[in-house]
Amino acid sequence: MSGGLPALTRPAEDRTDVLLDVNDLVVHFPAGRRGILGPPSKVHAVDGVSFRVRRGTTFGIVGESGSGKSTTAQAVIRLIPATSGQIVFDGENIADFRGERLRLARSKFQIVFQDPFSALDPRRRAGELIREPLDLLNIGSPKEREARVRQLLEEVGLPPQAADLFPHQFSGGQRQRLCIARAMAPEPDLIVCDEAVSALDVAIQAQILNLLKKLQRERGLTYIFISHDLGVIQHFCDDIAVMYLGKIVEQAPAPVRAILGAAPPL
Ligand SMILES: Nc1ncnc2c1ncn2[C@@H]1O[C@H](COP(=O)(O)OP(=O)(O)O)[C@@H](O)[C@H]1O
Ligand SMILES: [Mg+2]
Repeated sequence: MSGGLPALTRPAEDRTDVLLDVNDLVVHFPAGRRGILGPPSKVHAVDGVSFRVRRGTTFGIVGESGSGKSTTAQAVIRLIPATSGQIVFDGENIADFRGERLRLARSKFQIVFQDPFSALDPRRRAGELIREPLDLLNIGSPKEREARVRQLLEEVGLPPQAADLFPHQFSGGQRQRLCIARAMAPEPDLIVCDEAVSALDVAIQAQILNLLKKLQRERGLTYIFISHDLGVIQHFCDDIAVMYLGKIVEQAPAPVRAILGAAPPL
């Protein structure tokens, strides 16, 4: 016993609350040579980006096409290599992870893309598609995996019979539900939603956003939510970063109306 009174209030910034702490992330892509004899040039897709994502919240990244949103998110979840920078996830810098450590770290991240159709193998049934991440990561017995698929279908609002259908037999909104079920299968801590609702009609967008919110509440999920649509971002996110030419030019808790005047036009 240390004697003193127990702390009743949380400190203003509790470090344990931060799931992801990205520091000075840089991603360059090779872009051929300038002329025949010139030095090889690079695309500075992400050029020194830093941000923190709090556990159980939604971090929005907004910006015009080509501003580096997808590259940032994909580097953070180690889908593409970072040129430099720190990616501290749950207290560990995963930027240098290799081999088995990297594979395990990656299992904590999932991504949902804009185009649910191209994200799903058209020759495989929905049940198999949802089960695939469990098979790959060797999670549970075959029976447990089947039970998990049924549970996931229910959680994303699809009927059990959906397991036997092929992706083309679903509507766009249902396909995105399928992608979300697949992303949730290995129980990730962080899901990147990269323009996940951008291709959907407004009414369907709202349904999918409500579903994502419900899952976040129930499972304590953390999201990085990428969109070029400021309206959706403001409605959906707890914290927002505005990207422009590979940099975060503004960062604020939502709503960001106050900073819009200072940001480049979107
Ligand atoms: N694999 C790649 N090779 C070369 N350049 C790339 C590659 N991926 C993205 N880029 C470039 O990096 C920049 C940022 O792209 P991206 O992250 O996709 O932007 P956003 O998601 O904001 O639209 C763009 O200039 C894009 O052309
Ligand atoms: Mg993108």
